Amino acid sequence: MVARRIAEILRNGQPDESIKIQGWVRTKRELKDFAFIEVNDGSCLANLQVVVNAELPDYETLLKKLNTGASVEVSGVLVASPAKGQRIELKAERLEVYGEADPETYPLQKKRHSFEFLRTIGHLRSRTNSFGAVFRVRNACATAIHQFFQERDFLWVHTPIITASDCEGAGELFSVTSLDLKDIPRTENQTVDYSKDFFGRPTYLTVSGQLEAEIMAMAFTNVYTFGPTFRAENSNTSRHLAEFWMIEPEMAFCDLHGDMDLAEEFLKHIFKYVMEKCSEDMEFFNQRIDNTVLATADNIINNQFERITYTEAIKLLEKADVKFEYPVSWGLDLQSEHERYLCEQTFKKPVIVTDYPTQIKAFYMRLNDDEKTVAAMDILAPKIGEIIGGSQREERLEVLEKRIQAQGMKPEDLWWYLDLRRYGTVPHAGFGLGFERLVQFMTGMGNIRDVIPFPRTPENAEF
Ligand code: 4AD
Ligand code: MG
Repeated sequence: MVARRIAEILRNGQPDESIKIQGWVRTKRELKDFAFIEVNDGSCLANLQVVVNAELPDYETLLKKLNTGASVEVSGVLVASPAKGQRIELKAERLEVYGEADPETYPLQKKRHSFEFLRTIGHLRSRTNSFGAVFRVRNACATAIHQFFQERDFLWVHTPIITASDCEGAGELFSVTSLDLKDIPRTENQTVDYSKDFFGRPTYLTVSGQLEAEIMAMAFTNVYTFGPTFRAENSNTSRHLAEFWMIEPEMAFCDLHGDMDLAEEFLKHIFKYVMEKCSEDMEFFNQRIDNTVLATADNIINNQFERITYTEAIKLLEKADVKFEYPVSWGLDLQSEHERYLCEQTFKKPVIVTDYPTQIKAFYMRLNDDEKTVAAMDILAPKIGEIIGGSQREERLEVLEKRIQAQGMKPEDLWWYLDLRRYGTVPHAGFGLGFERLVQFMTGMGNIRDVIPFPRTPENAEF
């Protein structure tokens, strides 16, 4: 008999059906002539309750092995459950313990553990309710993202991880060095020669797939990337990771308005999909993590985002009735406290801020007619701040060359990017959604390290 997944059994299972399940024991409750174990297989938040009758062979030995964390395979018959809150339970006829988990040393016990503690056992934390829910929602977000673009005829393009360009021009790069086996230090006083690089020129881990996405958009009209990106910036905050995933659509024949419209529709689509597919997990977040999660989802789905210019945002912030840690004045970048104020206090919903000063934005953003601002847009979300950053791109060759030079970069290094403006240039636009910030926003999880299975931080690099 093929084992069935618990989510499916809880949905469809009927009394008297013979079934088999495989999973891990969450809890055990011993009564006089039988015991209950709760089994989870990661397919849903809920466990399947298994009744282990004392008449099973080697009952006493079996019971000793059925501790939290043990892996089991159970065959038996579904019966209507007399207990509250569950429709059916499984009466075990055959129970096999694959691997025991010693209760003296197994770190996950029945009590609630702090997220800080769980970060120290990253190889086991996915077996908890919270992380199970987070990673199911993460998966649903990814599915919704592909669905959204595929339904609209966008081509998914795979952009390089190793690259010679610094897309954002922010210098937050990890460099890539090739090493021979003999160059890898084996003793403490042996050092690595980092001067050897991969292509005979400095190469880095990509900070964004945008420039390559632009290449592809100039052939396929509408494309998107979905892949890992890397930034060697201060990642010691609850919203920054050194390695994070980004989704970057790029659209030819599109301006800033089309860009904003797509981004808003995109976020609404993802929220709708997740609310439908992961309703139980979302209820869990609302109850246990942040009691505004469901209201936020409803707000995103049903209300239009606010749209204001950077100049208007600065005016609102200058008039704000709170004292900010960082200064506010025209020309300075918005800090997350300012972004959050606009969403949480002023508008109480996501805000799209457009037309930022040229000096604080990347070289590729289209210069506006005032020559002081660029056609940029950031989407700011309550509790998170910036969740999406995008822009209309500079499609005019001469203007782009000047912008590259003004930022201290060499046009020759970007000859291929400039070629896109030499041959068949078109107005085009795109944006980048930080995938972990999205999952954080959706689940209410306080720390971005808790929405990615393996966060890259100095303390967490074992695997
Ligand atoms: O605003 P950013 O830097 O924009 C770009 O990289 C553009 N090339 C995107 C584009 O137009 N195609 O980054 C985009 C988003 C941010 O809004 C944020 O959500 C996320 O990426 N992000 C990070 N997420 C986690 N950790 C970090 N260190 C992040 N840096 C940016
Ligand atoms: Mg940005």
